[in-house]
Amino acid sequence: MLQLKNVSLTLEGEHGKKQILKDISLTLKKNKIYVMTGPNGGGKSSIAKIIMGIYQPTSGKILLEGEDISALGVSERARLGIGYAFQQPPRFKGIKVKDVLELAVGDNTKVNICDLLYDVGLCSQDYLNREIDASFSGGELKRVEIASILARKLKVAVFDEPEAGIDLWSFQKLTETFENLNNMTDTTIVIISHQERILRLAHQVIVVSEGKISEITTPDKFLGEIEKLETDCRCKNNCTFIGGRTDVQCD
Ligand SMILES: Nc1ncnc2c1ncn2[C@@H]1O[C@H](COP(=O)(O)OP(=O)(O)OP(=O)(O)O)[C@@H](O)[C@H]1O
Ligand SMILES: [Mg+2]
Repeated sequence: MLQLKNVSLTLEGEHGKKQILKDISLTLKKNKIYVMTGPNGGGKSSIAKIIMGIYQPTSGKILLEGEDISALGVSERARLGIGYAFQQPPRFKGIKVKDVLELAVGDNTKVNICDLLYDVGLCSQDYLNREIDASFSGGELKRVEIASILARKLKVAVFDEPEAGIDLWSFQKLTETFENLNNMTDTTIVIISHQERILRLAHQVIVVSEGKISEITTPDKFLGEIEKLETDCRCKNNCTFIGGRTDVQCD
């Protein structure tokens, strides 16, 4: 179980200090899927980085299975079993897909790296020996990053917008992969996402807005609320709905 207790984060921005997270308290249990969603810039990735130890909280505590890990850095938290798949993963010139996955798997002989690639919709024949350089597409890079997190036996796995840049076919495979991870392991899964299909996987939906948790709810309730929102015009002009709820034409 991972707990955030009254976590706040202030960072130095271009225009001075900015409070990014305000008094966040969360309890994330084993064997559950939490989907974190909310407006752009609300603070979702910052919460992920606080969990991973990339940012240290300005105040508040982070506990893993009751132990205070607030002062630990990224590698110590990784060793304790916390993993984070970045929203924008880095490219590693000179390093092959095989190297990244073998490093992630470590001495866990039960994990087959070809199966991992299959789980994220990549063909191992085509990708194992490819270098993760500038020639890698955004979606390919994202999937290798996700596979490297799946490779590890984690207590807490955080996936930041895993759907970004991923085609429909691979997306389908990915949702099944998250379900399997939840069925086969005790890992606490946190997925940051804006996708309905992913939201539907959640045991709890955590809505983050303006640096705070504005709501913790169920997928049905959350999606019902969105449905209502979509029927109102956001731009306050005279709008005509011309089909699906996203096809709104403004004068
Ligand atoms: N290192 C930083 N320095 C200054 N401001 C930052 C820093 N990191 C994040 N922010 C700001 O904190 C706010 C929250 O950012 P964050 O990336 O957590 O949002 P998000 O909810 O993940 O958004 P998105 O849906 O666009 O990915 C934003 O206003 C962002 O500009
Ligand atoms: Mg983000």
